[in-house]
Amino acid sequence: MAVHGNTLSGISVELPASDTSPLADEVRTGLQRTPKRLSSRFFYDAEGSRLFQEIMHAPEYYLTRSEYEILDTYKANLLAQFTTGERAFELVELGAGDGLKTKILLGFFADKNADFTYAPVDISVDALDELVIDLRQKWPDLRLNPRHDDYFNALEQLSEESNARRVVLFLGSNIGNFTPEDALDFYRQLHDRLQPGDLVLTGFDLQKHPAVIHAAYNDRQGLTRAFNLNLLHRINRELDANFDLAAFDHYEVYNPETGEARSYLVSQKAQLVQIGALAMTVPFQYGEIIHTEISRKFTRTQIEQLAEQSGFSLTGWFTDCKGYFADVVFER
Ligand SMILES: C[S@@+](CC[C@H](N)C(=O)[O-])C[C@H]1O[C@@H](n2cnc3c(N)ncnc32)[C@H](O)[C@@H]1O
Repeated sequence: MAVHGNTLSGISVELPASDTSPLADEVRTGLQRTPKRLSSRFFYDAEGSRLFQEIMHAPEYYLTRSEYEILDTYKANLLAQFTTGERAFELVELGAGDGLKTKILLGFFADKNADFTYAPVDISVDALDELVIDLRQKWPDLRLNPRHDDYFNALEQLSEESNARRVVLFLGSNIGNFTPEDALDFYRQLHDRLQPGDLVLTGFDLQKHPAVIHAAYNDRQGLTRAFNLNLLHRINRELDANFDLAAFDHYEVYNPETGEARSYLVSQKAQLVQIGALAMTVPFQYGEIIHTEISRKFTRTQIEQLAEQSGFSLTGWFTDCKGYFADVVFER
């Protein structure tokens, strides 16, 4: 039985037994569904986080460059919005990853002596650990409150008393991984847990030429392919499974009518896969898919509707020069 977890850089991590771990639950239920499904939240083990950092530098993956440009261009404007009333603020980042773009804001805010705490939340202990080590080196005086947790557990904690204004960051098009229903539910939960005047800054990937989107998830270096297949490698390692990675392929499709990019793993032959830790045998037909990720692309109207239907006011709209991506401020 594999047991995972560690305690590094002051972050406490629980040690789940593998057969009751979130990954085990996901694999047990997801691979018995039709069509088979595994959630993208399990992509980010150490290797998945490393591969995602490479993807962010791939020429086809415009999302990171676009959002980087926006945050760099409008950092002073964002600080002005975050500090209205001269209250201290707490920057709570859901799914912080390596914080590549957030560091633009952190560096600028530190230079301006802004009174704030940074609270990165990530389900990947590897990503969070690396981020904390880097931040402590770069800005030893930065007030840091890291949490190895799921977005939704972290949201629960938001309802606890705080004198600081909450500014929730949800960058990198993480919102695109939610179905429309889940996205609305997410903002409604945020609305319930935040106080009037608190803010949410979300990075939305916008609808654009379908070929640009399609290429972003089919990079020529094969990074997205390796990232998708790494999920099977993780299951092999953590749940004693025997997926043959050479017998599965990466396939991605973008539907411009729905605005959804979907990633799949495709079985290249009829095969049986053993998941040792779950005492499970999973049959695959030739061509059968596992749906692993949805990446939704938005219109401005959809974003305005999300704000309105969840009770927020849209108070800031920032885009890159190509109009590919938008960082949007919702005020509670
Ligand atoms: C696509 S990366 C984006 C990282 C960063 N926000 C950016 O813009 O570059 C998604 C990050 O969210 C984390 N994540 C995914 N699902 C999560 C969840 N349910 N709760 C907490 N973190 C999650 C992953 O571990 C990963 O580090």
